[in-house]
Amino acid sequence: MPLKPLDMAHEFLVQVLSPEDTTVDATMGNGHDTLFLAQRSGLVHAFDIQEQALVQTQQRLEQAGQSNVQLHLKGHEHLAEYVDQAKAVIFNLGYLPSADKSLVTLPETTLAAVKAACDILLPGGRIAMMVYWGHPGGPEEKDALLAFVQDLPQEDYTVLEYRTLNQRNCPPFLIMIEKKVEKYG
Ligand SMILES: C[S@@+](CC[C@H](N)C(=O)[O-])C[C@H]1O[C@@H](n2cnc3c(N)ncnc32)[C@H](O)[C@@H]1O
Repeated sequence: MPLKPLDMAHEFLVQVLSPEDTTVDATMGNGHDTLFLAQRSGLVHAFDIQEQALVQTQQRLEQAGQSNVQLHLKGHEHLAEYVDQAKAVIFNLGYLPSADKSLVTLPETTLAAVKAACDILLPGGRIAMMVYWGHPGGPEEKDALLAFVQDLPQEDYTVLEYRTLNQRNCPPFLIMIEKKVEKYG
């Protein structure tokens, strides 16, 4: 059985993580990815624009005994104001299942956040982006994101996509970005 996209996202990030690294969860939501990163890195900065996300995530972290996380009630487009350098960044786009489904990530702020994530990423660092796009506005965000990442210079970044090709409707998929350690050519 192949890895599901979210499991692949985690595996992609874990491969480069050490206990002292700083990481970012750009879309905190219920805090699953925040906890995942907290258990595998030194410090996590987690962002969301919904108070509910911070409450859920705080509870999840306390239950797990993790205190190495800074929660920011702030849009991820501002992440560079809080984080200088990161080894790994995860995005989980779309809406928070347990909350207002009309409150979704948006192309303009998502692109600003991905640009900021690329800027603060350490050489050898990685970004994983789970793209959920079955909701209104989802296809537009997906298209804008794909256009942006496909245009990242190959001298600086490796960009990959992981998706099922024979699944009905709008299956979520994964974009993986690695910042190269050394330029070539
Ligand atoms: C699919 S959910 C994330 C799920 C989460 N990773 C988890 O483990 O539960 C998407 C989240 O992005 C948040 N969001 C929307 N716009 C945002 C923005 N500009 N900055 C940060 N988070 C945002 C939503 O509030 C929502 O909680």
